[in-house]
Amino acid sequence: MKIYRANIIFTPSAERFEVLERGYVAVTDDGLVEGTYQQLPPHLQSAPITDYGDMLLIPGFADLHVHAPQYRNMGLAMDLELLPWLNTYTFPEEQKFADCAYAEKIYRRFVHELWMQGTMRSAIFATIHQEATLLLGRLLQEAGLGAYVGLVGMNRNCPDGLRNSSEEVVAGTERLMQELAASGREGYAPVQAILTPRFVPSCTEEMLDTYGRLAQQYHLPVQSHLSENVREIAWVKSLEPDAETYGHAYYRYGLFGQTPTLMAHCCYTDGAELELMKKQQVMVVHCPTSNCNLASGMAPVRTFLDNGVPVALGTDISGGNHLSVLRVIQYALQVSKLQYAATKGNKAFLTLSEAFYLATKSGGSFFGKVGSFEPGYAFDALVVDDSYLNFAGYSLLNRIERYVYLGDDRDIKHRFCNGKELAEPKM
Ligand code: GUN
Ligand code: FE
Repeated sequence: MKIYRANIIFTPSAERFEVLERGYVAVTDDGLVEGTYQQLPPHLQSAPITDYGDMLLIPGFADLHVHAPQYRNMGLAMDLELLPWLNTYTFPEEQKFADCAYAEKIYRRFVHELWMQGTMRSAIFATIHQEATLLLGRLLQEAGLGAYVGLVGMNRNCPDGLRNSSEEVVAGTERLMQELAASGREGYAPVQAILTPRFVPSCTEEMLDTYGRLAQQYHLPVQSHLSENVREIAWVKSLEPDAETYGHAYYRYGLFGQTPTLMAHCCYTDGAELELMKKQQVMVVHCPTSNCNLASGMAPVRTFLDNGVPVALGTDISGGNHLSVLRVIQYALQVSKLQYAATKGNKAFLTLSEAFYLATKSGGSFFGKVGSFEPGYAFDALVVDDSYLNFAGYSLLNRIERYVYLGDDRDIKHRFCNGKELAEPKM
């Protein structure tokens, strides 16, 4: 058992922060939270204590939608909306990942920055390239970060250099599963494969059908894109005229909640698609920075929450222009206020604790018991020095609010994933 002492802040539920001023968290040798305490109970009196003084101790962040091969384009090419943006900037960059030396350079920088930003868990799109995708998985394992990594499938409406076949998806995914299992480090958070059909316009019926079989055969989770952009939705309607909604196009192949499923964006989801997501408990990944940059729209997050549809946050680089989940929390709050205004006050905006919950416990739930400090949760934690933001008289709630709006990765002094403190990965 190990004990950490600090100002502990987390969100067991979306409604409010749990705060322990100079409290204690006890962590088992397996890396799980045993409990949080204001006073150290007798059975823990002899355990060693690491005291972080007046620093904050918060859960690690979860980024549930991010494109690692778009790292080099981050902060560039914001002058087009989704479909021309993909063709003009994104597909040409992703083609470069056929070259493993290039992939290694970019992926090392990407993994380093996940660590830097305190993103202890992520759901990542790689590319169609097997070797580069395996490399990304191994780099995450070496860093000790928890992740789902997907070999992307695309076999239509894409350049020839960025096209694979269903057979390659099957072989590549099976290889990814086997090699990640073989190279996983005991005690560290797992890096696992996730099925990653890019989106309906990129995948023929035959490929989606193959994905559905893989999901069922290996009980693999699924990630893709849904209802992000008006022109994209119209295109899907013309490609899949029999599907009641875009979401139903995934559902009919077994890719919409038949196994745990992440759908990024959902800016225009309503009606039958919303009902299906609720019934299938498909998790929405809200990516407000990306939605601003690509002029996509504003996801109806309040409606999802009111309907019991699970919601997480994603950076979605390079649609998103940074890898900071902290800044996505801020954007989620601000975009929700624009929606409040746009609906003349009909849709309540998000509260700070709700947005923080989405980035920690809600996103973390895709990885098991992750994202909270309740007993039994994996100890994923960040130790934050906010002393330069602090004024006498601030409460811990004031301090977490200031950290969300003003803080950044430089304030993170220690990072834990699955109970292990993570050293800075080599670039
Ligand atoms: N839809 C299909 N591919 C992509 C992508 O790479 N980024 C975003 N934002 N949307 C997509
Ligand atoms: Fe995306």
